[in-house]
Amino acid sequence: MTTTEIERETGTKYVGRPIDRLDGRAKTTGEARYAAEHRYPNLAYAALVHATIARGRITAIDTAAARAVPGVIDVLTHENAPAMKPPPKFSFLNLSSMATGTSVNYLATDEVHWNGQPVAVVVAETPETARHAASLVRPAYQELPAVVDFAPEEPNATPQKGNMLLPATADKGDAKAALAVAPFSVDLRFTTPPHAHNAIEPHATTAVWDGDRLTVHEGTQNIVWLRKHLALRFDVPEQGIRVLSPYVGGGFGGKGSVWAGTLLAVLAARATGRPVRLALTRAGVYHTVGGRTPSAQRVALGADADGRLTALIHTSVARVGRVGGWEEQITSGTRHLYDAQNIHLRQNLVRLDLLANTWMRAPGESIGTFAVESAVDELACELGMDPIELRMRNEPARDPLGGKKRFAHRMLREAYALGAERFGWRERDPRPGSMRDGRWLVGMGVATAYFPALYQPAGAVVRVSADGAVVVRCGLAEVGVGAATVQAQIAADELGVPLESVRVEYGDSDMPVGPGAGGSAQTASVAAGVLAACRKLKKSALTLARRSPESPLRGRKLDDLEARDGGLYHGGVGETYAEILARAGRGHLEAEIKSSLVKFLPKLLNDQRRWVKAACGAQFCEVRVDRDTGEVRVSRWVGVFDVGRVINAKTVASQLRGGIVMGIGLGLSEETLVDPRTGRIMNASLSEYHVPVHADIPHIDVHCLDDPDPTMPLGLIGVGEVSITGAAAAVANAVRHATGKRVLDLPITLDKLL
Ligand code: MOS
Repeated sequence: MTTTEIERETGTKYVGRPIDRLDGRAKTTGEARYAAEHRYPNLAYAALVHATIARGRITAIDTAAARAVPGVIDVLTHENAPAMKPPPKFSFLNLSSMATGTSVNYLATDEVHWNGQPVAVVVAETPETARHAASLVRPAYQELPAVVDFAPEEPNATPQKGNMLLPATADKGDAKAALAVAPFSVDLRFTTPPHAHNAIEPHATTAVWDGDRLTVHEGTQNIVWLRKHLALRFDVPEQGIRVLSPYVGGGFGGKGSVWAGTLLAVLAARATGRPVRLALTRAGVYHTVGGRTPSAQRVALGADADGRLTALIHTSVARVGRVGGWEEQITSGTRHLYDAQNIHLRQNLVRLDLLANTWMRAPGESIGTFAVESAVDELACELGMDPIELRMRNEPARDPLGGKKRFAHRMLREAYALGAERFGWRERDPRPGSMRDGRWLVGMGVATAYFPALYQPAGAVVRVSADGAVVVRCGLAEVGVGAATVQAQIAADELGVPLESVRVEYGDSDMPVGPGAGGSAQTASVAAGVLAACRKLKKSALTLARRSPESPLRGRKLDDLEARDGGLYHGGVGETYAEILARAGRGHLEAEIKSSLVKFLPKLLNDQRRWVKAACGAQFCEVRVDRDTGEVRVSRWVGVFDVGRVINAKTVASQLRGGIVMGIGLGLSEETLVDPRTGRIMNASLSEYHVPVHADIPHIDVHCLDDPDPTMPLGLIGVGEVSITGAAAAVANAVRHATGKRVLDLPITLDKLL
């Protein structure tokens, strides 16, 4: 966004502006303490021992050498560890179950379910001692046959069930028959590899027991889920557990569930009677925290000579672990992208003897849009039609699956129009390989981004004190995106107070229930809670003021008043919150909104029946491909997004850029390599698993249409995930344009272009 666009009159003081993150200073000065940076007297350190087989039983475990290392406090195995309760089965109505990473009851079983499963924990006086001693623990195994290779299992895939909120299938008309007679068609098979979570902050836990009371410092996306889950597993009252998570060094879905490290740190602290810190190594994250499923996808499209889609078929196979795993929504975007006459969508699953997979930024949509948006591009080549024109000819006016649902907000046409202008799409010569810059083949590609707009119930407390200071409290998860900063902006505008006077407190399970960071839903969810709490507070302030005959607000209704200059005004007449409190002799006023799933669900279901709700966008990518080596460089990027109203132009742009960077990694380099014989992850490090670095990323021009979605709180649609969707397809389509080669298997490494 340009400065003028950002600073234009929005009718609000802070909402929309590029405010710096309020925690930025603490983070850049090192004052911010992350989960592994809390000191306690007598702190002990834990390290994990990982299984080296994919499936089997531990027949013996020799801990003598580890115990003999000076400084080792204890070695916990299934033979001596105190028991945890087993994890609950997944259900949308049981929040503690939502946090179940895997169904394994660690150290309560001799069974091994994946290569890397923790089978022992060493607790020692220093982290170095713990890690060294862990390397000396010698388990012996009875191996059992294991199925770890995804590709050969594809024929054994079974249909995914889906549920009311996340359907796994769709049918409209007879897509197979329509495909068979379509004058133009493509029928393509795509594959995407598994991906590993690589947040800057590897997962870490500091756990401190005081009798039955437990304090946990943890970088988590879901404070409430974690607390409920720990209460259940350790059989202690929820009220006795405090989860503190003010700083999280990135989550992306990898810190949404509870994984072995967290549970075993808490277990080790209980067993040894010491505060325990467990900071996973990078490899430890790969071995104990789920990643993204691999996929095999078929996309078949049929069209008439005008480019109108007559058939749209998208089917997928993904995997879960035999011990759990998120069932990805790979075709979720395809439900609403195109107005095809006939549609057929199916999702299938295989179960493997691998670590349970989990959410990773746009789980399903990111890889699903790669396939469908590549196929649409290929169909445009078949038709000899501009790929944007093809998309616009199939832009739906209402839910393409039929029924009465309409789009709550959809500005994809505007996004493509603006993107084409900013990117210079007109300069593109459509002939493959026709654009060159010395030894570089230049390619331009587009793809659509699409991610559902969600929100959940959220509680909040807002308090104004006699000195005019405002405190907003909500147990939201600040995963590094400015989540708390934007709530300060929202509260400042709603109460009409200066931003400097607002403090947002968060990241603590003692606070009102926040929804957690996930599904791109947190900001909208918390905004609804904060707005409601602010309104309630203004109402209380007015009631208090009206009790006094001297108040200029006497006889006024809240709807007639404007919140500004630190108080409530009608025209030039009114008074500040501080004045109201002073006259009443009160120290502060407080208003609370409680999070209620029961009240919220009917509204959510009603919303779902009426609206197709989503963020969308147009991704424009330019690549340069070395004609001799096949090296691909992304040289330019423009993304134009419809994310409803923009609350903070700076943090929104950051989020959208981050998603595009992750999408470039998905397109060009990221791949978890699983040994097909042993199930071992072969590249569990940042030196061998390639995430994009600064040198790989050009300037990314991000623009938001900034038009409120009337069905969302404050008109905002979440921005966490939409921009990774479509990104890998935009890269693949640009590569197709540069080289004439359609790469169907991610990542697009240079060997696939030679
Ligand atoms: Mo996100 S994958 O919902 O943390």
